[in-house]
Amino acid sequence: MDYLFGIVVLLCGAAQPGRGAEPKHNVPRLKLSYKEMLESSNLVTFNGLANSSSYDTFLLDEERGRLLVGAEDHIFSFDLVNINRDHKQIAWPATPSKRDECKWAGKDLGKECSNFVRVLQPYNQTHMYICGTGAFHPICAFLEMGKKAEDNIFRLASQFENGRGKSPYDPKMLSASLLIDGELYSGTSADFMGRDFAHSSASLAHHLERAASVRMAKW
Ligand SMILES: *[C@@H]1O[C@H](CO)[C@@H](O)[C@H](O)[C@H]1NC(C)=O
Ligand SMILES: *[C@@H]1O[C@H](CO)[C@@H](O)[C@H](O)[C@H]1NC(C)=O
Repeated sequence: MDYLFGIVVLLCGAAQPGRGAEPKHNVPRLKLSYKEMLESSNLVTFNGLANSSSYDTFLLDEERGRLLVGAEDHIFSFDLVNINRDHKQIAWPATPSKRDECKWAGKDLGKECSNFVRVLQPYNQTHMYICGTGAFHPICAFLEMGKKAEDNIFRLASQFENGRGKSPYDPKMLSASLLIDGELYSGTSADFMGRDFAHSSASLAHHLERAASVRMAKW
């Protein structure tokens, strides 16, 4: 009972920010180090790929029982129960010419000139919409998943779209996006230098680049 009471108090506290005291920074209630998790001995690990890192973008696909992860030059699909069982991956690197351009522009070929997947959103019953930095040349594409898990489809469309305003150029830049009713809403840096920030909404219907972009005051 004491335990329940504790939760109620926490919730009430959260609902009234700034009353009297200074607003507090969000802090996780429970933190586990990697070592502690290993010691708990019910940890299943995925060791990753030698040529991929930045496992930064996640999408829980409860419908098909998968966890989608966007990383450097790759998209992964993991089984929710055991991530080591039947994982699928698609390589989605930046083209060699875009990597060259990125290098000539003075960027770090090894650290910045890859395709870092930053947007991973459900689009319709069969497809996800994904975007990556594309070596400072953002690109987007549809990812086909099939209707049900049994369809066993995990395929990237061969046609890519311009990802400007959807994914950041620079992998170090933060961004956020949400896809609702065929409209992708994103807040990200919309230029090479990372100086121009925009909230934009793009209608993805018929693969058209009908992007209505609203420039906002600098964040
Ligand atoms: C990463 O390495 C694997 C082999 O380890 C290779 O099959 C794959 O094509 C590589 N991906 C990229 C994007 O270079
Ligand atoms: C979902 O969208 C993709 C891309 O536009 C399209 O090819 C596919 O037919 C759509 N699927 C459904 C079930 O509407």
